[in-house]
Parts: sequence; structure tokens; C-alpha cells
Amino acid sequence: MDRLEELRRRHQAAEEGGGPERRARQHKEGKLSARERIDLLLDENSFEELDKLVTHRCRDFGMDEQIVPGDGFVTGYGRIDGRLVYVFAQDFTLFGGSLSEANAQKICKIMDLALKTGAPVIGLNDSGGARIQEGVVSLAGYADIFLRNTLASGVVPQISAIMGPCAGGAVYSPAITDFVFMVEGTSYMFVTGPEVIKTVTHEDVTKEELGGSMTHNSTSGVGHFVAANDEECLRMIRHLLGFLPQNNREDPPRRPNNDPAGRMDPALDAIVPSESNLPYDIKEVIHRVVDDGDFFEVHEHWAKNLVVGFARMDGRAIGIVANQPAFLAGVLDINSSVKGARFVRFCDAFNIPLLTFEDVPGFLPGTGQEFGGIIRHGAKLLFAFAEATVPKITVITRKAYGGAYCVMGSKHIRTDINFAWPSAEIAVMGPEGAVNIVYRRELAAAADRPAVRQQKVEEFRDRFANPFIAAERGFVDDVIEPRETRPRVIRALRMLETKVDTMPRKKHGNIPL
Ligand code: HXC
Repeated sequence: MDRLEELRRRHQAAEEGGGPERRARQHKEGKLSARERIDLLLDENSFEELDKLVTHRCRDFGMDEQIVPGDGFVTGYGRIDGRLVYVFAQDFTLFGGSLSEANAQKICKIMDLALKTGAPVIGLNDSGGARIQEGVVSLAGYADIFLRNTLASGVVPQISAIMGPCAGGAVYSPAITDFVFMVEGTSYMFVTGPEVIKTVTHEDVTKEELGGSMTHNSTSGVGHFVAANDEECLRMIRHLLGFLPQNNREDPPRRPNNDPAGRMDPALDAIVPSESNLPYDIKEVIHRVVDDGDFFEVHEHWAKNLVVGFARMDGRAIGIVANQPAFLAGVLDINSSVKGARFVRFCDAFNIPLLTFEDVPGFLPGTGQEFGGIIRHGAKLLFAFAEATVPKITVITRKAYGGAYCVMGSKHIRTDINFAWPSAEIAVMGPEGAVNIVYRRELAAAADRPAVRQQKVEEFRDRFANPFIAAERGFVDDVIEPRETRPRVIRALRMLETKVDTMPRKKHGNIPL
């Protein structure tokens, strides 16, 4: 009986964490507690906690008098929509959610199980970083986790939610995972904080400016999603997981829906403006083509000239990569190349077919881009598309110029099915630029007659800026009416369901990082 009471006492102490006062402070800051977060994240009553009775082993700095079961991390497994997931949540109310040797081992335990059983890992981060009192032992714990993050990459989906502080080397665990969620106003990430920055570079910057949710979602690209509060963040994680397989040996889940596979959409016929340099919103095309208009955008606020995200067609999850003519004319630059490459590689790792919508005038010119390494970064997107062996389908809606034509899922880098709309312009460069180069001498001689230039531009447009030359070569498989995009893509996806393609044997490629 004494033992039973002892057990209950220990369980209760673990559930108390840092106690009611610190919990109240957490709530006052707009944050939920670790256990509240897990409850909201998982299916009701599905959480099985592990290592609830684990304690730290530090005996310095008076830590021997502050021993709480669980040691400030809640770890275990549960279900989301009935599917197994592993989860850890850092409890900021106990030692600021700092990472001890003991709770690093707790995380490693569930990560090892996740790898063996093939299920996603979700980390809910809210921590002051390495437990200062433990010194190098805590750093070792981080490194143990980083190793597992790396080994699990491409095997099981890994998702990080930043729901409080995440600073110093601690940021590198979320950074290795597949998707980083942040919460407005309460979460921040940085390698060195404002005080250190002030000392070293004399810059004045607030925590929010330096590493808040919008900084990472719109400027650095470290964050993939931003939520208004903890509840929304946890709902978004559930939504995302609905598109993903449990591991790299599974296909993504199918979800029956009532959106007919044969649904045509006449509005698509008029979506591309007749003037080739006018913008339109590629997201409208996406919404009109996918099942029930449901598109879950990744990196919504960063590098908006490329749109990436998940949707379903025929009930099956797909990844969409699309140039966005409504932002910077859909040009490819450093950030959009990196964004696209990372997304393509995620989809390829997890057997998620890729659908590309292409309307790209080329790569962004300028010293900023060249000095920043657009060659290396643009090559990442090319590399990612070329190495991907999942079913790949490309629809050219308008411009497919130059190197960007090759990069954006062209036939030549083993895209399976390539469609073009009649509005497609597939050429080395746009008519204006081409004429300037090809007819330089004639145009110089006729500098006083602008009509000559105009006539050359028109000639070039008629001859080259269309989809038919590529179709004659078989570089596009068919020129389709925009309205029939959904049925045509679905039929291609069904045909490709049994696709097998491989890479030459190698340890790994050397993507130009
Ligand atoms: C031990 C910590 C702690 C830590 C916070 N606490 N961080 N305990 N180790 N790293 C404790 C505090 O002592 C306090 O305890 C409680 O958590 C809440 O902290 P507050 O400071 O009161 O909270 P707040 O004002 O919200 O500030 C949060 C904070 C700040 C910004 C995170 O606590 C802070 O700067 N902490 C140190 C951050 C840090 O430098 N960590 C090491 C980074 S290096 P009481 O008992 O008073 O409630 C790192 C390396 C990783 O992490 C390496 C990986 C390779």
C-alpha cells in the first residue's frame, strides 16, 4: 500500500511540474502548459507517457534539493487521427524547460522507438536551452538528439513547434527537422540573443525583431508556419500530418472525398491574362484544380514568388510547387530556389507525388543575386527536381524561359508527364530580350524606326513563344485546355501510381549546399 501511495505521489509531483504559480505565469504569457499542449495535440485520451518518473542526476548548485519526477520534459506516444505519433513537450515551468542529461535521454528514447516503429516525432519546444547547472553533460544530451534528428531525417517525418524560447545551439534540433511551426508573440529562436549582439556588433534589436515568429516566417525562412496561438499551432500540426505518410516506406494516406475526378473548370480558360506581362494568382489555379480547393501552404510568408504546399487529388496527398506570377513576376531567386528545393526533397523522401505549375520568366538578375550565390542556390532546385523519383507532373501555364524551363520539372530531368496550356511560352528567353540580341545590328541601323523592332518582336513571339514547338519534340506530352487540368492530372497520377525509378548506387549525392 505504501508503494501505491508512493507511486501516486510521484505521479502527482510529475504532473505538477514547476507548480501552480509558474503555471499561472505561463498562462498569463498566453502559453499553455506542456501537458495541456499534448492533450490538445493528440486524440482524446490517447497519450501514453514514458519516463514520467525519471529525475536528473545533478548534485551541484543545490540541485539535489530540487528533484521533480519527469524533470521538466513530458515524453511519450499517442495518436493523431488514429495514427501513431511520438511527442515530447518541454515544460517551461520547471527549470525553464532546460535540457538535462536525463531528459535528453527521454527524447532519445522516443526517437529510437519512432525509428524502429516508423512513426512521426513531434517536438513542442519551450526551453531556456542547456541546463546551466549540468554543464557539458547537457551539451552532450543535445548532441545525442541532433544525431538522432539527422538519422531520422527522411525516414520519419519530424515536426518542431517553437512555443516559447529556443536559443543557442538548441535551435539546431528544430532546424534539422522537416517543419518548424512558430506562435505569434510567444516564440523566438536565435543562435545568439540581443545582449550578445549588442556587445559584438553594437546593434540594438529586440527578441521579437531578432527571432520572433514573423522574422523567421518572412525573412529568414527558418519557420514554415506561423500560428496565432498555441491552440491554432497544435491544430495546424494535426492538419499537416493528414497529408504525410508515417514513414518513408509508406505511401501518403488516401482520404475519400466528393470532388469528382472528372471535374472540369471553365474559369481556368480565362485565368491567364492575354497580356503576357500581366500577373494572375497561381493560388487560384491551385485551388481550382485540387480536391475541394483544400491547399495547405508551406512557407506562406517567405519567398512568395514560389508557392509550395500540400493538397490532395483523387484523395491522394500531393506536393505542389508553383511559380507565382503575382509576386516578382514569379521569377526564381535565391530564397525561392532554396524553398522549392527543400520542399521537393521532403516530398521525394516521403513518396509524395509532385505537381508543378510553371510560369517563370527566368532567374532574377542583379549583383545581389549573383554575389549571394544564385548559381549555387538555383542549382539546389535543379538538383532536387532531377533526383526526385516520385511521380512528377508539370503543367506550364505560361512562361517557361531559359534555365528556369529546365529547372522547373522539365521533361529532361525525368518528369513523367508534362502538360502545357495554349498560353505557354517556351523559349530560351522572352521575345524582347531575344530580339535585342539576335537583331542587334539591324536594330542599331534602324534606331529611328521603332516599328522595325516591334515587327521583329512579333515575329519572334509568333514563331517561338508558344507551346507547340516543345510539343512537336515531345518535350511536353500534350497541350491541354486549362479547364481539363484536373482530370488530366488525376489520370496521370493514377497511371503513375506504380512508378518505380531509382538512383545510381551511391552513399549520397552532393547537393550544392
Ligand atoms: C537552468 C534555467 C535555464 C537554463 C532558465 N532557467 N533557463 N535553468 N538552465 N538554461 C530557469 C530560470 O532560472 C528560472 O528559474 C526559470 O527557468 C524561468 O526563467 P526566467 O529567466 O525567470 O524566465 P524568462 O524571464 O521568461 O526568461 C527566459 C529565458 C531566460 C530568456 C530563456 O531564462 C534565459 O535567458 N535563460 C538562459 C538561456 C541560456 O543562455 N541558455 C543556455 C543557452 S546555450 P526560477 O526557479 O527562477 O523559476 C544552449 C546551448 C545548447 O542552450 C547547446 C547545444 C549544442
